[in-house]
Amino acid sequence: MYTEKVMDYFMNPRNMGEIEDASAVGLVGNAKCGDIMKMFLDIDDETGIIRNAKFKTFGCGAAVATSSISTEMIIGKTIHEALAVTNASVTEALDGLPPLKVHCSVLAEEAIRSALWDYAQKKGITIEGLEEPKTTDHHNHDV
Ligand code: FES
Repeated sequence: MYTEKVMDYFMNPRNMGEIEDASAVGLVGNAKCGDIMKMFLDIDDETGIIRNAKFKTFGCGAAVATSSISTEMIIGKTIHEALAVTNASVTEALDGLPPLKVHCSVLAEEAIRSALWDYAQKKGITIEGLEEPKTTDHHNHDV
């Protein structure tokens, strides 16, 4: 049912945890299952390059795998490049997900966008192509 890659990222998640003094934090929830994802980014203000990314999730195995691989897909990338990471590209990077689990990959995409939105708010900048996430709530949850 799950690809080897999904199993690998679930069993050995890369970049799980928190970044202290992160430049940005994103928090999103999945309405379908109630799972939560938190994404921490360390961004170089000069170059806009994402130096580091970590995640924490109260989510299923597919949520762990998709968010883990999504952190790898954005580290070393610019903010703009990170916006190109979608649930489809994350799912593809994992060699696919069972149809019932595709919504879990949406959590990864939304967590990145939520964190980038947080960054834009903190810096007072506009990031082209990024709209305010509907589910952002940075202050009232502690995952
Ligand atoms: Fe909730 Fe996968 S079932 S994120």
